[in-house]
Amino acid sequence: MEELDVRIEKILSQMTIDEKIGQLNQISSPLVPDEKVFEEIRKGNIGSFILSTTAQAGNDDADNVSANLLNELQRVAVEESRLGIPVIFGRDVIHGHNTVLPIALTAAASFDDALVKECYRNVAREAARDGVHWTFSPMVDLSRDPRWGRCVEGPGEDPYLGSKMARAMIEGFQGEDLAAEDSVAACAKHYLGYGASEGGRDYFKTEISEYTIRNFYLPAYKEAVDAGAQTVMAAFNEISGQPCSSSRYWLTDVLKKELGFDGFIVSDWGAIPQTICQGVAEDEKQAAELCFNAGLDMEMVSACYLKHLKELIEQGMVSEEQLDDSVRRILRVKLRLGLFEKPYIPKYSVDKDKHKRDARRLAGESIVLLKNKDNILPLNLESSITLAGPMVTDKVNVLGTWVLDGNPEDVTSVLEGIKGNYPKCDINYRDSAFEEEQLCVANYKGDITVLCLGETKMMTGEANSVSNIEISDRMINIVKNAYVKKKPIVALLFYARPIAIKEIEPYCDAIVWCGNLGTETGNAVADVLFGKVNPSGKLPVTLPYCTGQIPIYYNTTAASRAVNGYYDGYLNYHDCQAAPMYPFGFGLSYSDFDISFDLSNRKISLKELEEGKTLKIKIKVRNISETDGREVVQLYVKDVAASMARPIRELKQYKGVFVKANNEEELDFEVGYRELGFYNANGNFVVEKGKFEIFVGNDCYADKKTLLEVN
Ligand code: NOJ
Repeated sequence: MEELDVRIEKILSQMTIDEKIGQLNQISSPLVPDEKVFEEIRKGNIGSFILSTTAQAGNDDADNVSANLLNELQRVAVEESRLGIPVIFGRDVIHGHNTVLPIALTAAASFDDALVKECYRNVAREAARDGVHWTFSPMVDLSRDPRWGRCVEGPGEDPYLGSKMARAMIEGFQGEDLAAEDSVAACAKHYLGYGASEGGRDYFKTEISEYTIRNFYLPAYKEAVDAGAQTVMAAFNEISGQPCSSSRYWLTDVLKKELGFDGFIVSDWGAIPQTICQGVAEDEKQAAELCFNAGLDMEMVSACYLKHLKELIEQGMVSEEQLDDSVRRILRVKLRLGLFEKPYIPKYSVDKDKHKRDARRLAGESIVLLKNKDNILPLNLESSITLAGPMVTDKVNVLGTWVLDGNPEDVTSVLEGIKGNYPKCDINYRDSAFEEEQLCVANYKGDITVLCLGETKMMTGEANSVSNIEISDRMINIVKNAYVKKKPIVALLFYARPIAIKEIEPYCDAIVWCGNLGTETGNAVADVLFGKVNPSGKLPVTLPYCTGQIPIYYNTTAASRAVNGYYDGYLNYHDCQAAPMYPFGFGLSYSDFDISFDLSNRKISLKELEEGKTLKIKIKVRNISETDGREVVQLYVKDVAASMARPIRELKQYKGVFVKANNEEELDFEVGYRELGFYNANGNFVVEKGKFEIFVGNDCYADKKTLLEVN
């Protein structure tokens, strides 16, 4: 037995049933010392605190628990409970702590896992010294529906990109050594399929086939487990009739047994009694029974386990072995975090300037240039610009949803970013706010109009879905009003979710997708506007042309009568084009790149693939412009004919590469068993013999391809 297991067994052997059940109980933290809570800790009735007091902390100004109180709660657990088991403090440290990074969907556009990992390391350093042991992040839910407000918390529509981001964030949070004082345990959430809520309605049901789950929704969780995520949160939704919280199949059979997850599963806030609402449990006792037997280890805030598990054990409805398994998992994470040795808040300093520098870089790399007519961007350093729109001076909404510890005062607004970095730029602006009617600005003296468009952070996030993703009339009016002044227009879009922009596109010379960029918003935007940073962000989601196109995502299977390629043939609507506005993986640069590789056909045997042999493809990336730049080269695979219909294309690898002006770089890509395989109708991962098309380019429409035959 490993040392860790010996320690777990030793503690477990001393625990009473009540103490075991107590470990499964997470309560909301008190904001002031509370003798009743101290007494519950002494009795061993509390295993964890969530450092927030509301069900939707993402939409509220969060409460902060003082360091002294956290240490006092911990002291009571360690010194005054019978076995001295430390409590674990969890908090929604989602896309930043004090330094706020771009929201996950925006950051995914960077296609830069190394940088994301470094930035999340910084987040962990800031959070751990505020007493956070465990973050309820990353959210790795794949989403194909921009109406769903929570699509902004995840990495977009692609399972491969989602998996890479999941790993990067988890490795960043947890560091090399989970027991280090500046590491926090990660929580991959919301397992499973939450992003498929029907109609984009939050908390709603999903209908997902196992084939689709295994090939699209599950891969990021598999990667999260492989990357060592210590916890997983069960989702609110049901999948085809069974709530995730009470699904033994998805929680125990797949996550714990098949994927080998050895950490613990936490419920979402109040999700156990919600199974009553979902119609599979009659009362809280039955809800506790179902969810516990499904394998849900820790209960967030609703205390059904605390109230009912003992009786359920006595009645033989749940087993003590299962209880032991859950407690082992929770103790394992506490031990791995080193909480028994170092239960109190560590003291160390952080290099906030470094964190800001990294955040600025990530924000810059996350910006996607969608249109740049006549190369209007980058702007001349001495340009004269008119700056207008509701986001010019905004410091709150640009942080995005779920910002519990970030301070708007630390944010650089767009105006400040331009003024501070480009003092020679002549700026005419009207200080603006959402409440104010923004149909005109004081004057349009500038040679170029830069419009800062967007929506409030309350339009996305938990319980903030919309039925219509078209850009609002107010924003359209701002654009049209600017257009009549006959100056070129640069539109900066500060929307966390994909929106449909067909109404403004014809009026804009340049369109820059900024998403929600966090603390460094203004600096990053200025860097891109004036060319210090050459944009290299790529869309992690398809941008629909209009709401009615939803769902529209690149990795779909082909229609029965579609001709080759995307969105054409019989897929057309009478009242709307078939293609989206911008495809997945798309993003322009101030440079021009030529991507080439040997297009001759190749062969490999299935046996060789099974033995680990890969097909190596050398990609040449030439920068055929006078501007240095970074390009994200993307490799897509299509399995031409298989036992199941396979997607038109699937992203299987990407690499960001910096290429100097008039220079070239070579990249090595590899295609092997993992890239060619899929989960078949029986749930087995297989590579089937036959033809595969391999496309390489800089978005999902990449047209250069080679044919690979697997025989
Ligand atoms: C509900 C949300 O679904 C989840 O993402 C969050 O971590 C918990 N509440 C805790 O705040």
